[in-house]
Amino acid sequence: MPTISRKGELMPQSPIRKLVPYAEQAVKEGKSIYYLNIGQPDIKTPEVALKAVRENTVEILSYSKSEGSETYRQKIAAYYSKHNIHVSAKDIVVTTGASEAILFVFGSIMDPDDEVIVCEPFYANYIAFSVASGVHVVPIVSKIEDNFALPSIEAFEKLITPRTKAILICNPGNPTGYLYSKEEIQKLTALVKKHDLFLIADEVYREFVYDGEQHYSILHEEGLEEHAIMIDSVSKRYSMCGARVGCLVSKNKSVIQTVIKFAQARLSPPTYAQIASEAALDTPQSYFDEVIAEYIERRNTLITELQKIDGVKVTKPKGAFYCVAELPIKNSDHFAQWLLEHFDVNGETVMVAPAGGFYSTPGLGLNQIRIAYVLNKESLIKAVNIIKEALKVYKD
Ligand SMILES: Cc1ncc(COP(=O)(O)O)c(C=O)c1O
Repeated sequence: MPTISRKGELMPQSPIRKLVPYAEQAVKEGKSIYYLNIGQPDIKTPEVALKAVRENTVEILSYSKSEGSETYRQKIAAYYSKHNIHVSAKDIVVTTGASEAILFVFGSIMDPDDEVIVCEPFYANYIAFSVASGVHVVPIVSKIEDNFALPSIEAFEKLITPRTKAILICNPGNPTGYLYSKEEIQKLTALVKKHDLFLIADEVYREFVYDGEQHYSILHEEGLEEHAIMIDSVSKRYSMCGARVGCLVSKNKSVIQTVIKFAQARLSPPTYAQIASEAALDTPQSYFDEVIAEYIERRNTLITELQKIDGVKVTKPKGAFYCVAELPIKNSDHFAQWLLEHFDVNGETVMVAPAGGFYSTPGLGLNQIRIAYVLNKESLIKAVNIIKEALKVYKD
């Protein structure tokens, strides 16, 4: 019988999606579910973006340029300049989501068996992208006790080998909600310059920053031009996950030229979605003000409710819309499945993401879950109450 590849075998299942069959079964049995497992916001997509597609009179839905449409990339550059990031269209490649941008970056800067150091817990698909690229994620642990702050530079240096090509951070972080400070970014800047590495920053949650904090991008750092590669997306910013549009930004010309070769191989990013994404850049600030206020309320509600449960440890995220909570259990994979299969409060249950899949060090995160606060306040209160009641009866 023909066999599948070793790469295919190594490809992890998404920790966010692997419980879907159990959720489907629970729904069939008549339960309703609060979905806190996936970063699919319930926030409306800006009307300007939807209208641009609805009212478009395009007659041939043609390919665009491989690196993305010229007008869109110019408008993205203008958007960044409002964030004090000074780049031009030629420094930007539009991709099919941030996902493709990360794949292109891994493919462009790493050879098989090269290494990228990533703070864990991290966005689970980084593992999938590394497997697909034949490279290795080398984890460096950030701890819930430290609010998931940047590990020490000495700890990073211990992990650097001749095969290390890059350090990858997610800022603000998924799943931790941690926001790296200017000082932390500057420490990483010095480190990557010293060891001649790339610094990749996944900044898809840039707008989602709370408590009056400012987001500090790696592209704000002077002198990092040859090292910095920033990953971005419209998915969360405009609640346009289904558009499948993202981009990567770098001043390093060789990186951009190489990424464009990967981009040419898949011809072009989606045309309609670029039209929507370009229009989305005209979204009024009032949209973000409302969305951010909503997320702050949700975060505050979620954290307050979680803190009321005995034995639950949680940090207050400063950005994105996730938090990692430690529960008084041994195996969150089992707990999350059990919630769907065997537990409900008045016919309602909750779906969470077991956090083990956000770590690559075996054994870590097994008593943690990731919660995405993508539902309204009332639903969050009910969902946390279900977790609270569940913990009273759950046996590991
Ligand atoms: C940190 C992070 N990076 C990248 C992605 C992928 O984004 P996209 O939908 O643009 O592919 C996600 C999606 O949840 C994410 O959370």
